[in-house]
Amino acid sequence: MKRRLMLLTLIPFLLPTLLLGQEKKAGDEALGSRKYADYEKPEVCGTSCHTDFYQQWKQAMMSQAYTHHWDEIEYFKLAVPHAEKDPKVAGVKAGCNGCHSPIAFLAGDVPPPKPEAGSRANESVSCDVCHTITGFKGDTPYNFNYISEPGRVKYGQREGAISPAHETRKSEFIRTTEFCGTCHNEKSPYDVWVKSTQLEWKEGPYSKEGVTCQTCHMTYAKGRNASMGPELADVAQHLFHGAHDPGKIRGTIEVRIHPDIREVEPGDRTRFTVVLFNQKTGHKFPTGSAEERLVWLHVEATDAKGNVYHLKVDKKGFPDEEYTIAANTLAYQDMGIPLGIVDFKGVQRDGVPEGDRIFRLPYLDPQGRMTIMQWNTASLATDYRIGPRETKIETFTWTVPDEAAPGPLVVKATLNYRKLPMPIVEFLGVPEEEAEIIEVNSHQTTVTVLD
Ligand code: HEC
Ligand code: HEC
Ligand code: HEC
Ligand code: HEC
Repeated sequence: MKRRLMLLTLIPFLLPTLLLGQEKKAGDEALGSRKYADYEKPEVCGTSCHTDFYQQWKQAMMSQAYTHHWDEIEYFKLAVPHAEKDPKVAGVKAGCNGCHSPIAFLAGDVPPPKPEAGSRANESVSCDVCHTITGFKGDTPYNFNYISEPGRVKYGQREGAISPAHETRKSEFIRTTEFCGTCHNEKSPYDVWVKSTQLEWKEGPYSKEGVTCQTCHMTYAKGRNASMGPELADVAQHLFHGAHDPGKIRGTIEVRIHPDIREVEPGDRTRFTVVLFNQKTGHKFPTGSAEERLVWLHVEATDAKGNVYHLKVDKKGFPDEEYTIAANTLAYQDMGIPLGIVDFKGVQRDGVPEGDRIFRLPYLDPQGRMTIMQWNTASLATDYRIGPRETKIETFTWTVPDEAAPGPLVVKATLNYRKLPMPIVEFLGVPEEEAEIIEVNSHQTTVTVLD
């Protein structure tokens, strides 16, 4: 009797321990909970069966999330040394790879060998990372809070898929945007959203229409999902095309420009209006690594003699607007901390013509200066990006110069995109392709300059 009572009194203590033992780990707590050997190499999936998906993945950033030059520079030159100096951001030394090289993170390899060492960390976001995710922990997907359950079972969107190499199981989760959101939403150690692609999607129009991330970034087509598999009507392509695909960027925003009057004389004040419509993205533009993406509107007039005049955008007067008008000003001073430069003055903020409108979300460090080190973001300034299906209007008031030649005056608006500001590319020695200018769209209108 006594003994039984004792056991009964133990239950409240034993039960949580038993449950905890079975609890699935996700996010920070999953660090070191697995081994590299628990995960299949992508070559195993791609050599004879999923040959087509393998080639698509190989070309996408998913296969390079750890090895890509800029990722390597930002992680090893900025994030790791910063994590070692500032206890507040110490967690990112491991955390970056929760998304960029999940198997290195799960294996507790911190920091993993550099890409040149050719270790398994280089596999980046591999097939077996995504196809062994079974769900996520918590209410909101963010900061790699996916649940990884590697093993013989591979999860996919189909019922009854048969494979000689592994078992398959249908997963509802893999079709959701939350699946993508576990890596495409991120909070900084200061509790600020520094990546919110899935959250932007959720509050935008596409979530109401069932148009998911997969719809636009995986796209369904007739074909096979494995070389020996049956023909299917809607095979999910593994493109994951985004910032590194100029074709995906082009045409994202429609641009139209019109004047307020068609005939002008030198000295007249005129006004040109540019209408920008986001027809293509399911989230804001730019999204994701918004701290470093630069989208800017440049307007130029060319007179009959070929003289070129640059038009500056009209101020609207909203809070923090100064960040959205290209200027000759310094920023990114916090890079001095990891680089060990005392009193670092920073580098040019924009590197594009002064007076152009920039569509951006400025990230601010604990001292209130603009930063591209998203993990060092303590606050955000006003979000001036273009939302899904949003239209923004910009005006350019301009006095026709006395020297403007009589005849047609062509006024052209060009919207440009750059992944990383040129001054940062030069300062950190990132290959220049990262600052390549992609023309999103352009449009021109003509007015006549009278004698
Ligand atoms: C309606 C189509 C559509 C949907 C839905 C959509 N996207 Fe996109 N996405 C685009 C287009 C077009 C681009 C290229 C322009 C750009 O960079 O925003 C893009 C770009 C991106 C980029 C690169 C952004 C950058 O600047 O680096 C990422 C990452 C991305 N999408 C992830 C997602 C995720 C995750 C979801 C779901 C939550 C999603 N997308 C939903 C159309 C879509
Ligand atoms: C970033 C995560 C991710 C990565 C990496 C990834 N997949 Fe997928 N895969 C998905 C998602 C999501 C789907 C289902 C999409 C849907 O149904 O909307 C899918 C579907 C599939 C399917 C079923 C396709 C169909 O339509 O029947 C196969 C097979 C597959 N993936 C194999 C692979 C292989 C092989 C690799 C590596 C070369 C790979 N995947 C890499 C996310 C991923
Ligand atoms: C395990 C983490 C993880 C998951 C899950 C994930 N992604 Fe990503 N994704 C990344 C990382 C990391 C990058 C950045 C690669 C780089 O540029 O270093 C990325 C980049 C992208 C890009 C931009 C590529 C470019 O050209 O710049 C797109 C688009 C994208 N992912 C779409 C998706 C979609 C759609 C899903 C869901 C089906 C998804 N991702 C799920 C980690 C993930
Ligand atoms: C919650 C997941 C997550 C975490 C944590 C994370 N990243 Fe990323 N990272 C991404 C995704 C997703 C993208 C792609 C976004 C896009 O295309 O705009 C990305 C993009 C990048 C890029 C831009 C790649 C390019 O070529 O433009 C760099 C560099 C980068 N991350 C470095 C880091 C570093 C360093 C850390 C740690 C301090 C880190 N990331 C932490 C998910 C993450």
